[in-house]
Amino acid sequence: MFSFHLFCRANVTVTDLEEVQDLLKMNIEKNQHLVSGSIQAKVLKWGEDVTDFLPAPDFILMADCIYYEESLEPLLKTLKDLAGLGTFILCCYEERTMGQNPEVEKRYFELLQRDFKLQKVPLDEHDEEYRSEDIHIFIIRRKKMNISS
Ligand SMILES: C[S@@+](CC[C@H](N)C(=O)[O-])C[C@H]1O[C@@H](n2cnc3c(N)ncnc32)[C@H](O)[C@@H]1O
Repeated sequence: MFSFHLFCRANVTVTDLEEVQDLLKMNIEKNQHLVSGSIQAKVLKWGEDVTDFLPAPDFILMADCIYYEESLEPLLKTLKDLAGLGTFILCCYEERTMGQNPEVEKRYFELLQRDFKLQKVPLDEHDEEYRSEDIHIFIIRRKKMNISS
């Protein structure tokens, strides 16, 4: 059983591309009553510098971010640059069967497992109302590096 109480007094940064910042800010405003800590929107293009987001966060929530081939390497770079050994990455995605999506998902998990270990959250532990056979949730942690000379 996985039990995270993420939203008690968390300091949250929501990120996306420049062109959707207004939408992020609108979402923050509409959900402000649910936030007891702090929340801010910032631009983060995957693969680019993450200095502004360090030290490594306790949690990274990734919802539906695995869907196009060109983004895989930059997305994984961002995860590697951001996540420390203590960081929990919660990754959820909807399995898509159209076009290149099955290959993109397969490739993402191949590349991911070079540096991260994965634990699948069983369906019976998903939210009762929103669970669905084609929606998957993983808890992802950084692997400890073997430092050899
Ligand atoms: C399928 S949407 C999911 C949005 C949201 N997480 C959700 O679950 O509703 C994918 C999001 O990834 C963002 N995105 C796509 N490519 C990106 C990139 N290279 N760097 C940062 N964000 C990117 C898109 O702008 C979009 O908001």
